[in-house]
Amino acid sequence: MNHRISRRRFGRIARTATVTLGLGGVSAYLAACGKNDDSKAQPTGLSGGVYNNLDPRRPEAFTRPLRLPGAEGALGLLDVPSTPLDVVARRTSQALLPDKAADVLTYEVQSGGKTYLNPILRVPRGTEFAPRLVNQLDEATIIHWHGLHVDWRNDGHPSYAAAAGAAYDYRFTVSNRAGMYWYHPHPHGATARQAYRGLAGLLLVDDQDDQQLRERLDLTLGTTDIPLVVQDRLFNDNGSLLYPANAAEQVNGIVGDVVLLNGVPNPTLDVASRLYRFRLLNGSNARVLRLALEKGTERQQITVIGTDGGLLVQPKPVAEVFLGPAERVDFLVDLRAGKVGDTFFLKSVTFDPMHNEGSMANMGGQSGGGMSNMPGMGGGSSTSAAEPRLPDGAGFNLLKLAVTSAAGYDRTVPAQLASITPITAAAATKRPIALSFSGNKWLINNVQFDGANMEKELFRSRSNMVEAWDITNDTKSMPHPMHLHGFQFQVLERRGSPEQVKGQGIDANGRVATDLGWKDTVLVWPGETVQIGIDFTNTFTGEQLYTFHCHNLEHEDQGMMVNYRVG
Ligand code: C2O
Ligand code: CU
Ligand code: CU
Repeated sequence: MNHRISRRRFGRIARTATVTLGLGGVSAYLAACGKNDDSKAQPTGLSGGVYNNLDPRRPEAFTRPLRLPGAEGALGLLDVPSTPLDVVARRTSQALLPDKAADVLTYEVQSGGKTYLNPILRVPRGTEFAPRLVNQLDEATIIHWHGLHVDWRNDGHPSYAAAAGAAYDYRFTVSNRAGMYWYHPHPHGATARQAYRGLAGLLLVDDQDDQQLRERLDLTLGTTDIPLVVQDRLFNDNGSLLYPANAAEQVNGIVGDVVLLNGVPNPTLDVASRLYRFRLLNGSNARVLRLALEKGTERQQITVIGTDGGLLVQPKPVAEVFLGPAERVDFLVDLRAGKVGDTFFLKSVTFDPMHNEGSMANMGGQSGGGMSNMPGMGGGSSTSAAEPRLPDGAGFNLLKLAVTSAAGYDRTVPAQLASITPITAAAATKRPIALSFSGNKWLINNVQFDGANMEKELFRSRSNMVEAWDITNDTKSMPHPMHLHGFQFQVLERRGSPEQVKGQGIDANGRVATDLGWKDTVLVWPGETVQIGIDFTNTFTGEQLYTFHCHNLEHEDQGMMVNYRVG
């Protein structure tokens, strides 16, 4: 393959940026300190003035155009062809911060004479899909198709990781309902770092229910129906990604202080006074979002219409939703009351992150080193896990919506969107799952994933049976976004929820709006027990081995993962 990506394409965001960041002086200073090498374990991070320009808490910082799904390049929309498709995992350079190139990892796809980077793969339900992962990284990797019901050989189980230079062939039928799924690496112990460095893309499954809704509401993908990927990151002053590699810093998971939306920090979108659909993936490694829409300080309703596994039965208007890493929410925003000149902000509002694991003691020795002790570099420059600048639970903006035109819009949201056969716990086999933190380790039923024995299962679930798992999160823990491979599930009940979750409750079972559809990831708060129902109908030949893990990616890599077998 001799086609090289032109730098112009990567430079698009930088060229359209309307503010200039005075990075030069700081970079020079850091270079003199020998600290702009992003492989250093001791994080330095963007310092004061530079960071302040990118601080997502400042509404004025939202000046860059939102990247929308395009015809090619980053976030290009690719209708999956029936012919095999090479997905090349490789290193490249991309300007994530204005005018600053960063070394990133990407999935590159060449198709129909175009080059796509982390393309949005669009697949009609029922289609056969035959991608080939070509591993051009200098380490092992494997792609997991997050949320898709596929046999385990196509699921990206870590035992199938392809060595550097090797390839892995997939072939499966996309049987899932329409919805926003995604793909990302899954090699044991390196998932967090590889995803953080850029390997992640969306996969949109389409079907008739979704088409009907789009027609009824006059929604067009990329214009009024917009996928959003949230990824928080840490940066060095030279614009390169900073990934704290120190085990102690990784205990809680890495939270960044620059928030990228579709790869762009602090974006803005011009909108008309009409209905918009957003499908949002929390693609962060560890950060939880409390998603809300505000106009000034006034909270606006959003209408949840879908979750991880596609459309809800009925639309559900809410004031806010929590969204853990890997969870998706599909929602409508009604801007009909907006006047030209009004601005709305999609944001993550403040919450109690409930980090009760007491692991801060483990962070001793992480602060105080490096640049923060240097004259003039204090304040603002700390990005150590002990005191992140934008801690988990902090409130910040995600996207500015600027009303720039009036629209006569008279469509109404249908009362029924799709149908879902409910799973009931009555006849189900019960299975208790305990999440805990002990001996400085994240555990599931007291077990840590064994990288030397990757196909050992914790339990076996009988094919064609329904199970109800009671996932209980130890109060000494923190919230864990628990993810099941192989099957979508239903949330049946929440017990012992903290007040901030109870406050979002919508039924007698303590469930919240995002519990109403099919799910593959569910946030389980400290002290809480979440009961999920899973129908283990095995439509594949032979036994299947799948993982169940925490999607705080640092937790996953630390072994908060187990295998279960179906058959
Ligand atoms: Cu999105 Cu096992 O992961
Ligand atoms: Cu998954
Ligand atoms: Cu976790």
